[in-house]
Amino acid sequence: MRMAVFASGNGSNFQVIADVVKNQEIDGEIVLLFSDNREAKVLSRAEVLGIPSHAFSPKEFSDKGTYEGEILHLLEEKDVDFIVLAGYMRLIGPALLEAFPQKIINIHPSLLPSFPGLHGIRDAYEAGVAETGVTVHYIDKGIDTGPIIAQEKVAIETEDTLESLEEKIHQVEHRLYPAVLKRIIKEKGQRTQ
Ligand code: GRF
Repeated sequence: MRMAVFASGNGSNFQVIADVVKNQEIDGEIVLLFSDNREAKVLSRAEVLGIPSHAFSPKEFSDKGTYEGEILHLLEEKDVDFIVLAGYMRLIGPALLEAFPQKIINIHPSLLPSFPGLHGIRDAYEAGVAETGVTVHYIDKGIDTGPIIAQEKVAIETEDTLESLEEKIHQVEHRLYPAVLKRIIKEKGQRTQ
């Protein structure tokens, strides 16, 4: 499986996925890291790991279609067959969705369908709910609405601060995402045998 990871910021999820790929726990290769943010920390992580990266912003293009066309070109060049979104803070448009049907997955820091959008952790914390969690799902054209692959709950304790909750969520993400990816890739491999 030839994977591309898309990330906009820190890249801690990219890091854990790259680590399990490197340890050959996943039958695949990360052939490309793409970021829509030329300043993102994830780019230096890719450099340290020796993973080829590209970064450009949609603002540098006349419209979203042209921006995604440029990404598609990179994906074709690298012969990518699966896309992993790891903190990619943009909606995937029709050009990429049509080229990769059921082949783009995302991780979201809430128990979807609750708290979709850019601030899943904060929104759950401010809503005062007793539990939130992490969701891994396929992408469709909505905001965090595609078919759910896996979820894990995280309790919000009365002593939790937003920061401690963020920390707990990230810990779950770093365990769940590589595990789910491993399972999906194994299943896809078996189906093509
Ligand atoms: C994670 O919380 C993920 O669920 C969300 O964006 C965050 C990315 O964190 N989609 P990182 O860049 O992987 O550290």
